[in-house]
Amino acid sequence: MATPLLQLKQVSKVYRPPGDAPPVAVLIDADMTVGRGESVAIVGPSGSGKTTLLNLLGTLDIADNGTVLVEEKDPCLLSERQLAELRRRLIGFVFQQHHLLPHCTVLENVLVPVLAGRSGTDPEVEERAMKLLARVGLADRVDHLPGRLSGGERQRVAVVRALINRPALLLADEPTGALDRESAREVGRLLAELNGLDAVTLVVVTHSMELAEQLGRVIELKDRKLVER
Ligand SMILES: Nc1ncnc2c1ncn2[C@@H]1O[C@H](COP(=O)(O)OP(=O)(O)OP(=O)(O)O)[C@@H](O)[C@H]1O
Ligand SMILES: [Mg+2]
Repeated sequence: MATPLLQLKQVSKVYRPPGDAPPVAVLIDADMTVGRGESVAIVGPSGSGKTTLLNLLGTLDIADNGTVLVEEKDPCLLSERQLAELRRRLIGFVFQQHHLLPHCTVLENVLVPVLAGRSGTDPEVEERAMKLLARVGLADRVDHLPGRLSGGERQRVAVVRALINRPALLLADEPTGALDRESAREVGRLLAELNGLDAVTLVVVTHSMELAEQLGRVIELKDRKLVER
């Protein structure tokens, strides 16, 4: 296998809600390895832990037990600055709830990750943003505010935003969930192309078998473990 980019070793994750609510065990001794350049679909019923898994892989949450390795390093051992740098350099994240900034236009939202730590964007980046937005059919929406977009349009903006820093790893939580068939196919094609041409590693949560079949591997969340299909 290619060098491992992501590894889960005997990982457990238990949510402990405040008050009297019982703990929720989502992952127990889960194992998984994703090599550089691979594309993986994560499938499983609602509530099975797909978003939890993606948050662990994306260094947005920490496991209760076991080890998560990103580029063979444990993110828990990095300083805040190193962690921020790792996220910025390596990871593009498409959230299930898109988290677009309501007072920024489509184009501004896409450019937010570029602005982190800088005072402005260069014209090349803006051109790339425009190209990607055109690619997902949003060329005539760049000046719109998110509140004036449809759910599927917002989802496509979130995909483009995740790609703007040319991440080596794209973590996407149901990136085609709110899309009609044709738009879903277009996003699917974009992901396949990123994986094929740019060797971007993909980990994509999806309920769409059509999208899952376009990816190299399918891993199912089952009984709190990860099972290769
Ligand atoms: N912060 C939290 N506190 C307590 N329980 C939580 C928390 N976040 C998630 N859960 C529970 O953990 C389980 C897994 O949640 P998760 O969001 O990972 O599921 P999912 O597979 O992404 O579901 P969906 O397909 O509906 O998005 C669910 O039962 C959920 O209720
Ligand atoms: Mg989810």
